[in-house]
Amino acid sequence: MDEPPYYYLLTTYLSYLILIVFGHVRDFFGKKFHKRDYRHLQANDGYAALNSDFDNFYIRRLKMRINDCFARPITGVPGRYITLIDRTSDDHNLHFKFTGTTTETLNMSSYNYLGFAQSEGPCADAVEDTVKRYGLTIASSRGDVGTSDLHVEVEQLIARFIGKESAMVFSMGFGTNASAFPALIGKGCLVISDELNHASIRFGARLSGAMIEMFKHNDIKDLERVLRSVISQGQPRTHRPWKRILLAVEGLYSMEGTMCNLPGIVSLKKKYKFHLFVDEAHSIGALGPKGKGVCDYFGINPSEVDILMGTLTKSFGANGGYIAGDKAIIDKLRLTNAGSIYGEAPAPAVLTQIAASLRIISGEFVPGQGEERLQRLAFNSRYLRLGLKRLGFIVYGHDDSPIIPVLLYNPAKMPAFSHEMLKRKISVVVVGYPATPLVSSRARFCVSAAHTKDDLDRLLDACDKVGDVLQIKFSSGIAGGAEPLPEGVTAEMVKEWKRTEKGGMQGDVIFQPPRWKLEDVLKKGVQDVKVPLR
Ligand SMILES: Cc1ncc(COP(=O)(O)O)c(C=O)c1O
Repeated sequence: MDEPPYYYLLTTYLSYLILIVFGHVRDFFGKKFHKRDYRHLQANDGYAALNSDFDNFYIRRLKMRINDCFARPITGVPGRYITLIDRTSDDHNLHFKFTGTTTETLNMSSYNYLGFAQSEGPCADAVEDTVKRYGLTIASSRGDVGTSDLHVEVEQLIARFIGKESAMVFSMGFGTNASAFPALIGKGCLVISDELNHASIRFGARLSGAMIEMFKHNDIKDLERVLRSVISQGQPRTHRPWKRILLAVEGLYSMEGTMCNLPGIVSLKKKYKFHLFVDEAHSIGALGPKGKGVCDYFGINPSEVDILMGTLTKSFGANGGYIAGDKAIIDKLRLTNAGSIYGEAPAPAVLTQIAASLRIISGEFVPGQGEERLQRLAFNSRYLRLGLKRLGFIVYGHDDSPIIPVLLYNPAKMPAFSHEMLKRKISVVVVGYPATPLVSSRARFCVSAAHTKDDLDRLLDACDKVGDVLQIKFSSGIAGGAEPLPEGVTAEMVKEWKRTEKGGMQGDVIFQPPRWKLEDVLKKGVQDVKVPLR
């Protein structure tokens, strides 16, 4: 992985230090002279404080400074463009006032991978028809009278698409994980979780009452170390064998753009016999030649994974989540899942959106359109990633990931990047601690099949200029973006140098910091994405 120069990491830590010191100084005087502003942090009239002063510090003194970059209100469809409702703040982002205007921006921030977030087209027409026939709500939980023909149809469609015997849909992606883990495992079981797993997995695992062990993100060696240790030791104190061991990973990680090493995990599964849960929230529809997720991408039979979970919010432009697996597992889930027994069943319009988009992806409905969307997404993801690397940015993640994190490091560069992009009418998401490690703040682009090459060129142009102004082009070349290989040097040789991390003189020739001119990036990108990126 590429790293910025040490001075940059040092100034990043220094920035946090200054922010923290200033925060404490402001708190010290604020608590003396503006007591009203601190009421929620202090016990009052015998009642305990609403918030912990310590826990609230980060939000109050760091996040609040850049709060205008987050949770921007929008109106309309979050498709290729997104319309922001303009707002201003007179009190340093504590309150916002709407100005009454809107701004249409290029949308690089929504999880609209296949471009199904649309208010027109075949899906929207089918949904409109469903609303006329079914209304908006099922008005019941699945356990009572909330299972309609649409639910059964969608569950069969999902099972078929995923390549599993059975599937179940839920009204919420987060709720799918939060309620599925407690239904599948419990006391005496063990969840082994990638350290960067999504909050819904961590939440569900904690609710289940099972023990939780973590391994380093995507590190197969560390996973094997954890497996050997937990299997040999068994349960704490009694050392009895675990009732069940469930390994939970994500197909594509939404902050890193990394893909799980499914082939490696499957070979460990054969050796150590644990159950495998893969959350495909960001990979289903977005990865693989047929859009069927990580199994499709790696050419692995879905039967190798016990439970395939996914959300319907992202690639399908709908809402909710699903779990697919063997019939016995799904039957158990139907009977024991509190979320669906007590919660509202997915709404008819949402189910139709899922069914219509799934049929388009698999080519049953509007033949050719699904394939085109998949190809556009694959091209766009590789084109933008390669372009950013060549311009000199440090970009994390897998070459085929539609999530493209560009590293900013310094906390002040988050608002600067976001504002500069907004000036150019481009909406981006910036992410910092605690969603990322303290030093690796980043901007995260979400590529969509709805984007055209012109959109991406516009973004590359904006990044090129903003990157120069903010001085964030730090790539050393080790993670890609380099000039074409000199004659006589093969990709295998480079791989070997990278592996040994000591290319010596030869390595220096290959790993020169890429700082391509924008014109060359745009000129060569289309051809070069067809071969393995470097
Ligand atoms: C890996 C993962 N699982 C689950 C969820 C929750 O899905 P939803 O947003 O549809 O509730 C998300 C959301 O982004 C996610 O990234």
